[in-house]
Formats: sequence, C-alpha cells, structure tokens
Amino acid sequence: MADHAILAGKRVLLVVAGGIAAYKSLDLIRRLRERGAAVRAVLTEAGARFVTPLSVQALTEDTVYQDLWSLTDESEMGHIRLSREADLLVVAPATANLLARMAAGMADDLAATVLLATDKPVLVAPAMNVRMWQHAATRANMALLESRGVRRIGPNEGVMACNEYGPGRMAEPMEIVDAIAAIFAEDAHRPLAGRRAIVTSGPTHEPIDPVRYIANRSSGKQGHAIAAALAKLGAAVTLVSGPTRLPDPPGCSVAHIETAREMLAACEAALPADIAVCAAAVADWRVDTESDRKLKKDGGGPPALALTENPDILATLSRPGKRRPALVVGFAAETGDVLAYATAKRTRKGCDWIVANDVSPGTGTFGGSDNTVHLIRADGVESWPTMPKDAVAARLAEAVAGYFAGK
Ligand code: C5P
Repeated sequence: MADHAILAGKRVLLVVAGGIAAYKSLDLIRRLRERGAAVRAVLTEAGARFVTPLSVQALTEDTVYQDLWSLTDESEMGHIRLSREADLLVVAPATANLLARMAAGMADDLAATVLLATDKPVLVAPAMNVRMWQHAATRANMALLESRGVRRIGPNEGVMACNEYGPGRMAEPMEIVDAIAAIFAEDAHRPLAGRRAIVTSGPTHEPIDPVRYIANRSSGKQGHAIAAALAKLGAAVTLVSGPTRLPDPPGCSVAHIETAREMLAACEAALPADIAVCAAAVADWRVDTESDRKLKKDGGGPPALALTENPDILATLSRPGKRRPALVVGFAAETGDVLAYATAKRTRKGCDWIVANDVSPGTGTFGGSDNTVHLIRADGVESWPTMPKDAVAARLAEAVAGYFAGK
C-alpha cells in the first residue's frame, strides 16, 4: 500500500461523471480530505443526477463547478485555472461517455474542457456496465488514453447495479486513494530532472526505389519503453524513431525518421545531451544509388543492388569530444555467445554500457513483450531475469539515474 502521508497539502480536482458509482466519490472526497488533501469538484450534468451539488460542496468545503457557461463559475474560476490549480485530476466515476469524449479531445462541457486543458496527471476510475466496458469502442478509447499517459484504476469485477456480473464496478475509494498516493510518489521521484536524453528506436527503412525498401523486424517496443521510462524519471527525452506501429510515448519529443542517415542527423540535432540510448535496429547497409524510378522487370534479369555501409549512430555518438553524452548506452542483439560478443561490442563502439540480449529464433524477443538482458559495464556484467520490456526499461532508467547520482 502506498504511503498516504504524501497526500498532505496536495490539490486534487475530482471530476464526477454520471454513474451509479458516483455515490462512492463522496466517500473518496472524505478519505482524501482526512489525509490532508484539498479536493475541488467538477460535476457533469449527468453526475449531478446521481449526487447533489450540495453534498459535494459540503464534503469538499469548496464551490462545486458544473457549468462551462456559468458566469459565476467562469468568473470565479476559469476552466484553465481550475486545472492549473490542481496537482492531479481524478475522474471518478469515469463513464464510457466521458472516456469517449476525452479520447476524442472534445470540450463540450466543463469536465471535458478541464480535462483537455490540463497538463497535470490524470487518473480515471472507470465505472460502467460490463458490456459497455468490453465494447471495442471503449477498449480503444481507454487504450488511446493510456498511451497518452492517462492512468487508470479498476474497474473491478463483481456484481453490477444492473445485476450483471463482470468487470465494470468502480474501484473502491481506498483503492483510488492508494492509486493517487502512488502517482504522487512516482512524480516526486524524478532523479533525472534537468538531464537531456536521446533514445533511438525501431527499424530504419532504406529505400531501393520509390516503392521498395530494405527493413528489419524491430518493433520499437523496447526503445519506446526506454524513452518513456527516462521521461518518467524527469529527463527531457528526444526519441528518434524509425517507422513503427507504436504511439508516441507520453512526455517525449519525437523525431520520426526513415533512414539511418536521417536518424543520425536527428540525433545530432538533439545534442547536447547527457544520455544517449541507441536501441534502434539500424540497417547496416543501404542501397548505394537509390533509383528515382521504380525498378522494372524489363527482361534483363534481376537488378544488381550494390550496397554501401550506413553510418554507425552509436559509434558516432560515442566518439570522444565536447559533445559526447556523458553516458552512451548501446544494445547488442546476438544469437549465441551473447556475453562475449556484446562485451567486445562495448569496446569496439566506444560506448559506456551495452544491454545485451539473445534474439535467437524461439526466444520471442523480436516483437514480443518480454526481454531477457544482461547489462554490461566496464566493471562487470549484471544478468537480469526475464521481464516485460517496460520493466527492463524502468530498471535501465533507474540504473541511468544511479550513474548520475554517483557523479
Ligand atoms: O553493430 P550492431 O548493429 O550489432 O550494434 C548494435 C548497437 O549499435 C545498437 O545499440 C544499435 O542501435 C547501434 N547501431 C547504430 N547504428 C548502426 C548500427 C547499429 O547506432 N548503423
């Protein structure tokens, strides 16, 4: 359980949407206030059908905000100030309707407008009928919101007000309090604040002609997760990404590139930086002379493609000099003799650390969500257990923070 002491003095803006679970939000207000947090509430029109503004006002001991068009509400506190004067926005209950409006970026009432205007962390506690929760539309909206950094607690499984059974019940007030305390604790842990990081991710595409290219199977999952993990610890991250199917990770500025040369240029443009993590699967070779017309089957047999070597981004960033990041981390994807090859690679490329992994067919690393890695530094090797790529990223980001803490 998270330590609730962190809640003292924090300002929570609670958005109560229209669901039967809204009655639990009254208890949530009480529990947060008992722990020293200030709670200000926004009620949607539907929310006000489930709990009265009067009870919310009595519990928050503050004005309850309901109307985007109310002169009194807006003159007392504009929607921008409402979100600015909060440390965290909590939507409880978060209905399917409000989640859809958030995902679409709508601003058609005060609640949606405040949620669109905020730059603060947002936690949603969904509550709805099982089928509404399981509907592809809600699933897609929730996934989109989470990819943008919105956090979620619940819903829990159980009997619903409509007598159906399944996931859809709003998390209990104390679970929400725990989740809020955990977010504040996480946000207080920013050891990389003030540091700049460059992360490369994904494959590169090297054109053969206007319609064809050389590529590889990198999904970008590990690199994107590292960018997000460094940003979470406070670093200002530039993610330089080749073509992937992944959404841009929250909190990072992203340069989308296609070729290795574009990747190198984007990395150099992002310098100076304290940290560089090269997780991209850069194509080693490109076609020497890209055809500006589609190569045709003209009866003369297959074309001969002369290849030429791409710049090595990791080695370039590792080169000693004024602009060299203090910590350069490379990846080594090997198929056998992982440690020996990766250790040699660390010296050859001139980087400080190598994250080595076995990508032999059958390990499921490529495109999968788990990874088994070894962290190779000048003074030895740490072998980490198999874990999700997100967890590898979090642990690597902590190791980076530890490096700078020791400096
Ligand atoms: O030489 P190899 O491709 O095995 O090295 C892998 C490491 O080097 C990875 O960190 C990868 O991102 C980086 N690399 C690079 N530019 C290249 C080739 C590899 O940055 N052209």
